[in-house]
Amino acid sequence: MVGTGLSSAIGQDLLRCLADDWEVLAIGRTPFLGMHRHWLRADLRQPFDDWGHSLTNWLMQSPLQVSAFVHLAGVAYSAPCESTTAHEWQSMLSVNLTAAFQLGQCLSPYLEEAAAIVLVGSVDAWHASQDGPAAAYGASKAGLAGLVRHWAQEWGSRGIRVNGVAPGALAVGMGPAEEAVGQAIASRIALGRLGQADEVAAVIAFLLSPGASYISGAWIPVDGGLNVAY
Ligand SMILES: NC(=O)c1ccc[n+]([C@@H]2O[C@H](COP(=O)([O-])OP(=O)(O)OC[C@H]3O[C@@H](n4cnc5c(N)ncnc54)[C@H](OP(=O)(O)O)[C@@H]3O)[C@@H](O)[C@H]2O)c1
Repeated sequence: MVGTGLSSAIGQDLLRCLADDWEVLAIGRTPFLGMHRHWLRADLRQPFDDWGHSLTNWLMQSPLQVSAFVHLAGVAYSAPCESTTAHEWQSMLSVNLTAAFQLGQCLSPYLEEAAAIVLVGSVDAWHASQDGPAAAYGASKAGLAGLVRHWAQEWGSRGIRVNGVAPGALAVGMGPAEEAVGQAIASRIALGRLGQADEVAAVIAFLLSPGASYISGAWIPVDGGLNVAY
């Protein structure tokens, strides 16, 4: 598997869901080492040319084809449109969306038949939060929605499945930092609580598994029933 964002809580839980003998190439800034573990240092805000050649070299030298690609890396700045800086906009587009596209483009020739791709988006692609405007973040995640459907069609004849997972508000990572905000969001969730990293990881692992062999082009919300009531 080739993955970004594997240092996050969701990424760590995803690795626990996978069999120990999966060869994993982690792309990111946090070192990632161990048995069957490989690391390609990359700051995904930087142009693909800065880190993409190392990936291509690694892929050309690897005896294995790529069976899975998971794009979990994400950056979020929550700010009103008027005060979102060009740097924030560019960082979110680069890490959340452009890196996914460029990685898919680079990995495509190395994907095995029946490979699985999972892009991790957010409910913010479809909904605006009452607790803090995040138009730029939502736009970057909405771009992933397009990639999933178009790649599913483009690569479906090769047996490659492409799906998306859209977490709601989690109690970890970039979930709400303030308890009051978390409680306000939880009051709008059918299950009445924020989500956990392993609850997202389990869905990603399922989409990578043979059990999901007839699911492609789909987005699965993992949000505990956010905003199902009116
Ligand atoms: N937590 C939530 O409530 C929530 C809700 C909806 C969606 N999500 C999505 O779930 C995913 C994981 O989120 P999280 O909350 O677990 O976030 P997190 O703990 O902040 O982790 C972010 C991940 O993104 C990677 N990343 C960030 N900037 C990067 C850069 N410039 N270059 C390379 N990698 C970079 C980090 O890897 P390095 O350590 O290598 O930099 C890290 O693994 C994200 O896509 C996020 O949008 C989360």
